[in-house]
Amino acid sequence: MSSSKIKNDLFLRALQGETVERPPVWMMRQAGRYLPDFMKLKEKYPFFERVQNPELATEITVMPIDQVGVDTAILFSDILVIPQAMNCEVEMVPGRGPVIPNPIRSLSDVEKLITPPAEESLDYVMNAIVHTKDALANRVPLIGFAGSPWTILCYMVEGHGSKDFSTAKGFCFSQPKAAHLLLQKITDMTIDYLKAKVKAGCDVIQVFDSWGGLLSPEDYNTWSLPYMRQIAQAIKPHVPVILFGKGCWYALNDFSEAGASAIGVDWTLSPEKARGIVGPDVVLQGNFDPSKLLSPIPVIEAEVKKMIDGFGPQRYIANLGHGILPNIPVDHAKAFVNAVKQYSA
Ligand code: CP3
Repeated sequence: MSSSKIKNDLFLRALQGETVERPPVWMMRQAGRYLPDFMKLKEKYPFFERVQNPELATEITVMPIDQVGVDTAILFSDILVIPQAMNCEVEMVPGRGPVIPNPIRSLSDVEKLITPPAEESLDYVMNAIVHTKDALANRVPLIGFAGSPWTILCYMVEGHGSKDFSTAKGFCFSQPKAAHLLLQKITDMTIDYLKAKVKAGCDVIQVFDSWGGLLSPEDYNTWSLPYMRQIAQAIKPHVPVILFGKGCWYALNDFSEAGASAIGVDWTLSPEKARGIVGPDVVLQGNFDPSKLLSPIPVIEAEVKKMIDGFGPQRYIANLGHGILPNIPVDHAKAFVNAVKQYSA
């Protein structure tokens, strides 16, 4: 593993369960959104050009390292490059988000999807990783990521963002065979993709199950967890894997048993309760409410201390409970990061 050469390896040591001098800190969706320099690039280049051009992806990935001081980078990309590689078109419409012009609605739609080798079909991601690792010069580790198969299915079937993804859920409940075939195809493509990302240089992998919380605990065990487990099992022998399920408080122990090196927690669960569920040995990550970064800075500082006290400073990675929002002032994001760095029990 390339990690031994990394200068700030706090994040990697915490992921391995080692005792550390303070919790490492990063923010989901830190590469983009709220940074003024990112907004400038956003005005100049369409979304997928920023994703596909290695120089632009690198520039955006490195921004929060230099400007906010987080302990790890996360590659600028998107979870929806997977459907694109499978020959399911995805457009990013400004002001609307992802749009899939021809959503998947039948078994024959699923059968037509391809699962080409990621090293070729997503070569631009691998190029961006190599380029980013070069620019990082071993200052901090690099996280690669993918969406969970369930969350990817939500977009591929619904055709766009949604509050309830009821078309996607209806597809699973009415055409379970087609839905499981789709989930397995996404899983196979994702495993190949994440292995290629690790080979290209990613030090850690995080899987985002952004829409897992739309499922009941029982349905989660049918439609999401088995596929998350396949991914964790395939990638864990190579690098640490973080499993994050938004709204999936009921699945924390399942994630642990599935092989997660660390488990993401959102703010609907208190740090104490999360720690109580998994016990002292499991590495947890989270869970600051992203909107709370709009609080006055002294409040952010006090709340961060409370959060770390609640999780305990060991086997813990400080983060938000979901992605940072576009309207967060940069100095508030910095205050969050600095409050973690200054933590003392
Ligand atoms: O730190 C980072 O921001 C790194 C890159 C990153 C993006 N998307 C860039 C992006 C990451 C980690 C993602 C993951 C992602 N993409 C998720 C999982 C995490 C989460 O927030 O739940 C999901 C569900 C998506 C799908 C997606 N992509 C949506 C719903 C949207 C539109 C709304 C939005 O801003 O989130 C996107 C577009 C997108 N992906 C943008 C960025 C910076 C904004 C559009 C733009 O910059 O033009």
